[in-house]
Amino acid sequence: MTSNPTPTDLEELQASALRELEQAASSEAIEQWRVAYLGRRGRLTQVLRGLSSLAPDERRTAGAAANRVKAVLEERLAGAEENVRLGRLQAIAEEGRIDVTLPGRHVPVGRLHPTTQMVREICDAFASMGFQVVEGPEVEWDYYNFEMLNIPKDHPARDMWDTLWIDHVDAQGERPMLLRTHTSPMQVRTMQNAEPPVRVVVPGKCYRYEATDATHEWHFYQVEGLAVDEGITFADMKGTLYEFARLIFGSERKVRFRVDFFPFVEPGAEMAIDCFVCKGGGCNVCKGTGWIEILGAGMVNPTVLEGVGYDSSRYTGFAFGMGVERIAMLKYGIDDIRLFYGNDLRFLQQF
Ligand code: PHE
Repeated sequence: MTSNPTPTDLEELQASALRELEQAASSEAIEQWRVAYLGRRGRLTQVLRGLSSLAPDERRTAGAAANRVKAVLEERLAGAEENVRLGRLQAIAEEGRIDVTLPGRHVPVGRLHPTTQMVREICDAFASMGFQVVEGPEVEWDYYNFEMLNIPKDHPARDMWDTLWIDHVDAQGERPMLLRTHTSPMQVRTMQNAEPPVRVVVPGKCYRYEATDATHEWHFYQVEGLAVDEGITFADMKGTLYEFARLIFGSERKVRFRVDFFPFVEPGAEMAIDCFVCKGGGCNVCKGTGWIEILGAGMVNPTVLEGVGYDSSRYTGFAFGMGVERIAMLKYGIDDIRLFYGNDLRFLQQF
């Protein structure tokens, strides 16, 4: 271009610039174009520089025209850059495209085992009545599991618990250790370590040397309960267990106590609730009787109290013990206790 640009020269420059810009598809191409036209040695820049050698009035018209061209080119440049940027965003969006109308993917969520849930529910019921939750060892001494509970060696009452003995023989040739057959040894351990008032519940695993069937497992959970203080009566026991039954099985429950025998309580009782399925009319669950036995209980035997050093003329108390799986089976209509130990997700996922 000469140092004296005519309006036609400028028009041609603008036209070719815009044509070239149209072809520039990448940001690199656009940058090259910018350098070629608007850069320090670019074609339009040269024109603008050449204006200084013109006569003043020529300079004014040519300068104004050149500046208009410059404004057009700059505006188109910005537009072209924006287009490339949008194109890039669109490509990214296209690549990571998600269909928001698809159903969500299921995330498997863990949960507590039904036995654990039941243990917690039972303990919560008693905690609401002021009972503390304590735990004890599963490998236990004969001393706590039997002897201190008024079940001497060779006494026929031991037949109530088929025992898994630990294969360890002491100096007397006896096997003093076992897998606890019930949570009752914790009655003794608790009283040995505390003065009345005592109010505890003891959840835990128990073991028995038993063939399994729909209602028997060789391992299972129990929750034990113990309350000892001055002036505790059988009526306190009934009231406490009644409230428990209502909390777990519904507020309209009725309870029934009948005489039963356990060496560590006197008198001993078995508690039943009215069948919540048939409301007492008689069905499968209650085996036609209208009643469902749910736990053993009784007033703590004075022999047991004296054994731990409590004055049985001053203190009385009650104790109870229940099978956790049995409570869950009744509550949820489960017909086989072995399901609790089957690790079958089809069962577990229902809770
Ligand atoms: N330990 C008894 C059992 O396992 C249940 C029980 C506990 C009974 C406390 C009375 C008092 O059969």
